[in-house]
Amino acid sequence: MSRGLFITVEGTDGSGKTTQIKLIEEYLKNKNKEVIITREPGGTKISEKIRELILDTENTEMGIITEMLLYASARAQLVSELIRPSVEAGKIVICDRFVDSSYVYQGFGRGIDLKIISDVNRIAVDGLVPELTLFFDIHPSRALKRRISTTGADRIEKEKMDFHKRVYAGYKKLALLYPDRIRCIDSDRSIEEIFADVKYCIDELI
Ligand code: ADP
Ligand code: TYD
Repeated sequence: MSRGLFITVEGTDGSGKTTQIKLIEEYLKNKNKEVIITREPGGTKISEKIRELILDTENTEMGIITEMLLYASARAQLVSELIRPSVEAGKIVICDRFVDSSYVYQGFGRGIDLKIISDVNRIAVDGLVPELTLFFDIHPSRALKRRISTTGADRIEKEKMDFHKRVYAGYKKLALLYPDRIRCIDSDRSIEEIFADVKYCIDELI
C-alpha cells in the first residue's frame, strides 16, 4: 500500500476555504481517489469537544496560552486518530487549517513567541508535515466586503480587523519562509478562477 497525501488549507476567516474544499473533494472523488475531509479544531470526538471549549464565546476568561495548548491538544488527537492512519492507508486527507493557523493566530495575532508554538506543536504532530498547503490569499477587509454582500453581516470592530490584518501578514511571512510547501492562491477572484489554480496545484501533486 503506497502512502497517501496530506493537504492543508489555510487563510483568514471567510477567505473561501470551505467553498474550495467542497470543489476539491468532488474533483478527487471523480478521479476515484479516497478522500477524507476534516477540520481544525475538531475532526474527532475528543477534538470536537475541545473545539466547543475553545470557541465558546462565554469562556471570556480563557488565557492565550491555555487556548494555544487546547488547539495543540485537539491537533494531537486528530493526527494520531485520523490523519496519520488515513495517509498511511493510502488516502488523501484534506484538513481545513493545521499548525500554520496556530503560528498566525496565536503567534502573529495574539503575540505568543513563535518558538513556544513550534515546540508545543512539534510534540502535537509528531513529525507530520503536509505535502501541500493551499493558502487562500485575500486581504481580510476584502473578505469582509464579500461576506457582507453574500450574507448581509454588517460590521466588524476595528480591534478585530487589526487582529485579522496581523494574522494575514503572518500568512504572507509563512508563505515566504516555506515556498516549496505553501502555495499562495490569489483569492480575490471568482470561485471558478480560484479553483482553476487549486486544480493545477493538486494535479501537480497526484
Ligand atoms: P471560509 O471557510 O474560509 O470561512 P467560505 O468558503 O465559507 O470561507 O466563504 C465565506 C463566504 O464567502 C461565503 O458566504 C461564500 O459563499 C463566499 N465566497 C467564497 N468564495 C467566494 C468568491 N470567490 N467570491 C465571492 N464570494 C465567495
Ligand atoms: P471556524 O469557525 O472553523 O473558522 P473558519 O471557517 O474561518 O476556519 O473557527 C476556527 C477559528 O479558530 C478561526 O477563527 C481560526 C481559529 N484557530 C486558531 O486561532 N488557531 C488554530 O490553531 C486553529 C486551527 C484555528
